[in-house]
Amino acid sequence: MTQIELRGVQKYFGAVQVIKDLNLKIDDNEFIVLLGQSGCGKTTTLRAIAGLETIDGGDILIDGKPVQHLKAADRDIAMVFQSFSLYPHMSVYENIAFPLRATRKSKAEIDQEVRSVAKTLQITDLLAKKPSALSGGDMQRVAIGRALVRRPKAMLMDEPIGALDAKLREEMRAEIKRLHIKQGSTSIYVTHDQIEAMSLADRIVIMHEGVLQQVGSPDDVYSHPANLFVAQFVGSPVMNVAEASVTEKASAASVTLGDAAAGFEFPRALLSKLNGHAGDKLALGIRPEGVIVRHEAAEGFLPVETQIVEPLGSFDIVDIKVGSKMLRARTKSGFVSGPGEKVFARIDPAQAHFFDVASGRSLGVRL
Ligand SMILES: Nc1ncnc2c1ncn2[C@@H]1O[C@H](COP(=O)(O)OP(=O)(O)O)[C@@H](O)[C@H]1O
Ligand SMILES: [Mg+2]
Repeated sequence: MTQIELRGVQKYFGAVQVIKDLNLKIDDNEFIVLLGQSGCGKTTTLRAIAGLETIDGGDILIDGKPVQHLKAADRDIAMVFQSFSLYPHMSVYENIAFPLRATRKSKAEIDQEVRSVAKTLQITDLLAKKPSALSGGDMQRVAIGRALVRRPKAMLMDEPIGALDAKLREEMRAEIKRLHIKQGSTSIYVTHDQIEAMSLADRIVIMHEGVLQQVGSPDDVYSHPANLFVAQFVGSPVMNVAEASVTEKASAASVTLGDAAAGFEFPRALLSKLNGHAGDKLALGIRPEGVIVRHEAAEGFLPVETQIVEPLGSFDIVDIKVGSKMLRARTKSGFVSGPGEKVFARIDPAQAHFFDVASGRSLGVRL
């Protein structure tokens, strides 16, 4: 049982505040991913939890007890880093056994635990080797083994597979997930890679410039981004965002992007759901799969012309121009012949997001 809680955590390096009032509650056995661009404060947050970095305000609680005054060694938390941090002169066996040597365990007990961890990580046949003889992926397996062997209260991983090549990263990602399902320990995993975050996390914590932007399941942050930053950070290709004005038109609502000559048709309910914000400066967010393209004219579709077409294998991304704004639409592959084709486009109201431009916040409209 390990719960970790951050309450109003603040961290400065000199005059620069790199963690700003961070509040987060992590449940027992939960796999949390801290996601954000390089420099947003992920490593600092992890090091603060581990006790490798002091904090300048707030509390860090493990199972309800403040630990910010405890040394790293007294917090019983293991950390795996991106850079391989194995002892080069020791065998794999000795590297994994190392954290147990300082305990009162007998040789036989240590042996049993090293072999059990090696078996879980499928590295039994590597036990006699030196780190220099291992591939990058195997080195990280050993580093994870060394972290796991003392059954820490929590596992913190800082871009543990970031240095591996793409194919191996994918393999290791799946292994880390399997391991978590099997071992079930409270885990905090740091990455700047949203695919890694989406595939591993129970909940994703998105940070930007030291400020927590949103905490939620992968589906939450993808389908209900809390603000424009999250909307454009999660998802590939990125969400289209355009300034939009909403007006009443006959029995419907009309959403005009930028300087476009005509608006997209939306259900009238949009006006009430905007809750008095219809007249504010708004941005519409729509993922490429929410931009629907067809060949024939139809009610609610605007005539548009295709620009660049990117074939991506199982689908195409087609750029269309609405006024001076470019929207990216996702179509079946080969659906349009190429640039310059006249087609008709609509925005799926159920997939549209509305944001307040001034604050960037989502207005939470669901149609
Ligand atoms: N020891 C340090 N001294 C001064 N500034 C630091 C130190 N460590 C990190 N920083 C700064 O703090 C910010 C957050 O860094 P970091 O937590 O490493 O970000 P991330 O892991 O998200 O890339 C960055 O601007 C970085 O330059
Ligand atoms: Mg980092």
